[in-house]
This record gives sequence, structure tokens and C-alpha cells, in this order.
Amino acid sequence: MNHRTTQRRTFAGGTLVFAAALVLTGCADSDSSDSAKAPELKVSGAYIPAPTMADMAAGFFTLTNEGGADKLTSATSDLAGSVTLHSTKGGEMKEQKSFDVPADGHLDFATGGNHLMLEKLRHKPKQGEKVTLTLHFEKSDPIKVEVPVKEATYQPPQHDTSHDSH
Ligand code: CU
Repeated sequence: MNHRTTQRRTFAGGTLVFAAALVLTGCADSDSSDSAKAPELKVSGAYIPAPTMADMAAGFFTLTNEGGADKLTSATSDLAGSVTLHSTKGGEMKEQKSFDVPADGHLDFATGGNHLMLEKLRHKPKQGEKVTLTLHFEKSDPIKVEVPVKEATYQPPQHDTSHDSH
């Protein structure tokens, strides 16, 4: 499935606003009980599959939290003029304003699910290159990661997935 085609269909269908409202409502009360404990975040397994298109790439990683709840609010990169947060549910991709990082839990960005979308690329990244990515949070300080560019078909071994939307 083509990234751009999916997005166009999402906007054309007019379901974006409605779906985003549902997600926000569902998550609204999840972080108040853990707010006393500071989040302790760690990023692991980050990678960017070498993109087939010159102007767009996806980013994946796992955020592990050994403290209180936090929120991933945005991401920036030296490679991209624009980085947005996306979720994929039922094969449909949606842009999200933020992602909850649960207390003593983890947040996965993996093929076929959540992903970063890097656009307005300054150049087309090649396999073996490192891309600097900075994740921004509601409570924690920003985390800067050197993300390796992997082959286009790369799958991290720990993830069981049959999706190939990127
Ligand atoms: Cu996307």
C-alpha cells in the first residue's frame, strides 16, 4: 500500500476529524493518576527504512518508560522539514497530535502501526546513513537519537508483523 495514496483517501473520506476526536476522548484520563512520578524514557531499536520515494520516509522506534506517564508531543529531524506522528488502525493511517507513553510501559512505533512520517526531505537517505531525530515530550526533556537507515524491507526481529504499508 502506498503511503501517499492512503493519506489522500483518509482526507477525502472525511473521517479524519471524527476518528481523532474518538481517540482523544478514549485517552483523556489515563495519565492523571501517575503524574506524581517522573517519567524515565529510553528509546531503542530506532530505524528508518531506506525510502523508495525521494521526498518521504518513515521512522520507527520503541519508547520504554520506567517512570510515570508522559506524552510524545512531536518529533524533529535534521533530514526533514516536517515530521508528523501517525497511527495506523484497520489499515488506515491517521495523523495524531500526540501519543501517550504509559507509566511503566512502552510505546511502539512499528511497521503497520504507529510511525513517524518525515517529509520535505533535504536529501534522499541511503542505507547505512545516520539520521538525527529528536523526540519531544510533555514532561521529559527532548531525546536525541542517531537513527540508522536500513534497507527498504528491513524488519526488526522482535516484531511480528505482516504489514508492508511502508
Ligand atoms: Cu503515515
